[in-house]
Amino acid sequence: MRWMDSALKFTVLLMLLGLVSTVTSGSPTKDGFSHCERTVKKWASSSLAVDIKEDKHTLRDMLFFLHVPRTGGRTYFHCFLKKLYSSTLECPRSYDKLRFDPSKTNCRLLVTHDDYSMMTKLPQEKTSVVTILRNPVDRVFSTYEFSVEVAARFLVHPNLTSATRMTGRLRSKTNGISTLDIWPWKYLVPWMREDLFARREARKSKGQNYVKSNDSYNMEDVVMPLHVYINDPVAKDIIHNGATFQVAGLTNNSYLSESHEVRHCVQNYRTLGEYVLEVAKKRLDNMLYVGLTEDHKESATMFANVVGAQVISQLIESSSRIESLANNKSEQSSFFPHSEPDNNHNLNSSTDQKASEFASTEDVDATNEIMTVGKLMDAYEVCISSLRKTQAHRRTASLKRISPANFTKEARQSGS
Ligand SMILES: *[C@@H]1O[C@H](CO)[C@@H](O)[C@H](O)[C@H]1NC(C)=O
Ligand SMILES: *[C@@H]1O[C@H](CO)[C@@H](O)[C@H](O)[C@H]1NC(C)=O
Ligand SMILES: *[C@@H]1O[C@H](CO)[C@@H](O)[C@H](O)[C@H]1NC(C)=O
Ligand SMILES: *[C@@H]1O[C@H](CO)[C@@H](O)[C@H](O)[C@H]1NC(C)=O
Ligand SMILES: *[C@@H]1O[C@H](CO)[C@@H](O)[C@H](O)[C@H]1NC(C)=O
Ligand SMILES: *[C@@H]1O[C@H](CO)[C@@H](O)[C@H](O)[C@H]1NC(C)=O
Repeated sequence: MRWMDSALKFTVLLMLLGLVSTVTSGSPTKDGFSHCERTVKKWASSSLAVDIKEDKHTLRDMLFFLHVPRTGGRTYFHCFLKKLYSSTLECPRSYDKLRFDPSKTNCRLLVTHDDYSMMTKLPQEKTSVVTILRNPVDRVFSTYEFSVEVAARFLVHPNLTSATRMTGRLRSKTNGISTLDIWPWKYLVPWMREDLFARREARKSKGQNYVKSNDSYNMEDVVMPLHVYINDPVAKDIIHNGATFQVAGLTNNSYLSESHEVRHCVQNYRTLGEYVLEVAKKRLDNMLYVGLTEDHKESATMFANVVGAQVISQLIESSSRIESLANNKSEQSSFFPHSEPDNNHNLNSSTDQKASEFASTEDVDATNEIMTVGKLMDAYEVCISSLRKTQAHRRTASLKRISPANFTKEARQSGS
């Protein structure tokens, strides 16, 4: 992280430390502890051993964007990466690990919520990793709000049966990626959806005789209160320490079977979290770029200058290589093809398909035009403002369905 000044670096460390210190304590036993200690230490030393890379600031052939949920990574995906990489260079089904098979393609860009264990499926020495981190308290608030927001869209349906049936039909028809297919939303959204319908049914049977709360984060007649949500085993497994586990490759979605034992060990014996922290910090240190959600402007500028600039020169280089190859065979080719119709990102505001997280208003993919860092920044500014407008609109429309609950900055402050 040479690119990050020391203040930023310090903030990153604090974020990670904050996370690890909240690891929950299980029911520790002495034998269990020494077994776990051995397991975690073994994992940590093998993880640290393979991570030695020189020249970590140079972009390699493959760019892996480790997208920690609710850090703002989606704007980087739509407003930077989609403007640089054409659809053909994007690994197929980036967000869908079940169908991901990197060996089949020559893709250059992988953007996913999958954790660092994804590296075992990629050519490690040819892969650069980038990520964005966020203050854990805000990340948790945002995760709660987004779970509810997406689930609330289903309240257009008269009941849960009809909501789930409709979703299944739509999904098989459109073949698109929906938020419901990708970790962690595939657990969090159905959980909240079921809960919202149950609370609505309960309200109906109570009539007007329920106690109304004025705190949106604790309005149990309408939506699962934040404190209930965050203390649920599902949240403990998926959200607590979420960013640290993702960077360490230890999420509940990990590709490696030993990851699950390591995770359970550090969940039960919090002191072992130190080993995880060491691995996570080392990984961040070896990344090409680490952004911070809070320092949005600075992070975006840095991304354009560090990652963007290198992607541009890399693609120009391979483009001319391909072109001269093609010319020798008297064929037409370009590394900057016009975008294919991008059906996966297609959204329809009047159907449940809009549950897709991949909202985008203008997916102007990479084009034949020569890109520069300056143009990239300009395109980014335009893109992000329209993306934010769309997101705000969708959020308002969705939260209307759980009114009077409304997640605003003011409510966050008075509620907590
Ligand atoms: C759910 O709603 C559908 C559509 O209105 C209706 O046909 C069905 O009977 C309802 N199911 C239950 C369990 O109420
Ligand atoms: C909720 O109501 C209580 C009194 O009933 C009041 O003190 C508090 O400020 C209100 N909170 C919000 C968020 O409106
Ligand atoms: C991940 O968490 C979800 C929700 O708690 C759970 O349903 C799923 O089985 C977990 N997966 C693993 C591998 O632990
Ligand atoms: C294309 O052909 C020229 C001369 O025929 C040769 O010098 C050049 O190396 C070839 N380029 C590639 C990429 O094969
Ligand atoms: C979106 O939904 C509307 C209304 O249901 C429909 O007329 C339109 O064809 C849909 N568009 C797409 C792209 O699916
Ligand atoms: C929720 O709050 C936002 C921002 O203050 C506002 O624009 C929106 O209309 C509110 N929604 C409801 C349903 O009150």
